[in-house]
Amino acid sequence: MSCTVLPLETSRWWRPLMLWAGLSSTATSQANYDEAKVPAFELPELLRFADGTAIEDADDWRTKRRGEVLALFEEHVYGRMPEPPPSLRIREIEAGSAFDGAATRKQVHIRFARDEDAPSMDILLYLPKEPGAHPVFLALNFYGNPSITSDPAVVASPQLTLDRPRFKRAQRERGFRAHRWPIERILARGYGLATIYCGDLDPDFDDGFQNGVHPLFYEDGQTKPKPDEWGTIGAWAWGLSRALDWFALEPTVDHERVAVLGHSRLGKTALWAGACDERFALTISNNSGCGGAALSRRAFGETVARINKVFPHWFCDNFNRYSGDETALPVDQHMLLALVAPRPVYVASATKDRWADPRGEFLALKHASPVYELLGVEGLTVQAMPNADEPVTGAMGYHLRTGKHDLTDWDWERYLDFADRHLVD
Ligand code: GCU
Repeated sequence: MSCTVLPLETSRWWRPLMLWAGLSSTATSQANYDEAKVPAFELPELLRFADGTAIEDADDWRTKRRGEVLALFEEHVYGRMPEPPPSLRIREIEAGSAFDGAATRKQVHIRFARDEDAPSMDILLYLPKEPGAHPVFLALNFYGNPSITSDPAVVASPQLTLDRPRFKRAQRERGFRAHRWPIERILARGYGLATIYCGDLDPDFDDGFQNGVHPLFYEDGQTKPKPDEWGTIGAWAWGLSRALDWFALEPTVDHERVAVLGHSRLGKTALWAGACDERFALTISNNSGCGGAALSRRAFGETVARINKVFPHWFCDNFNRYSGDETALPVDQHMLLALVAPRPVYVASATKDRWADPRGEFLALKHASPVYELLGVEGLTVQAMPNADEPVTGAMGYHLRTGKHDLTDWDWERYLDFADRHLVD
């Protein structure tokens, strides 16, 4: 079998959707979906210092190698993020009970600078009604906070991008994406859920970084990030860390038990956030694919060239150097997963999500495993990719769900089980 053409390409009404998802017909017909055509590659060494000497123990990793790997991702892939702002201006928007008294809800507005019109984000937080500090899942959403639930008290996301029909629909219909957010189930299992519209931090289109949080950090005369400075994924991840800053001040949240989770482009973001900010206790990537959990060197499904072309704003400018030249990358995505070690990490794929390269996602996890072992934690407990719907547990979780690119109740149940294992005493 040579290049496979997705059947979707033939039906015209899908085209706007596919374009939004970065799946133009050229992209999919040129993509490789043939294992036999995956190029031979060697992964960059995780357990050697940049000067080539071998890493001998956990201290070598903790004190030096981890920093080297992180710096490589900053310089070549996601770009450096700025420090947190000197202070966060936090205003409670509202608080109340939700889901027929089964939960409490709090909404806060967090501004990143003194000016009234400085960049800001709104956090929607649901917690179980019992008093105390709760473990929380933190996840960005694609379509504004009201899109995750029909709860009428959720305030509109004022910065919702309205340039596409799906965003307009999200604005009209509360709970437009509720099927991806089993909130009551999460609460019943004893966890809170916090979410932020990703567009509050940076709208998801290429406008030369004039909107979102980037301009707040420009030096005098600077008009866009430097080649090794953050793109949109960096801005999103930075915002997740600012949510953690707030959690540290919020008595109803146990900020030492926060799981960061994301789907797709927001899964790439969850991984980058979990890698950079060691305060995240647990990191979950759902169908994150290229630039997320999948090994770039396999060039299976979406490639570095394709992602840089269709989403030029997601990564730092330096990442363009590797379009069509993955072997020149000084890192691969197994190293990103290793940055999460020894904290638990979960990678999930879906059988029909070939664009995200499920095998590449599994292999990245497998090749990150030696770092977990070095740090005294059980690594990946299987050698071969498991069958569909047979989750792998341990500090490194994995599953391949039957079905398409999506975040389903079944995925969430696995994440809740994983959190029970690692976040509950
Ligand atoms: C596109 C893109 C992926 C991304 C996905 C999403 O398909 O090519 O890299 O993960 O959109 O975020 O939905």
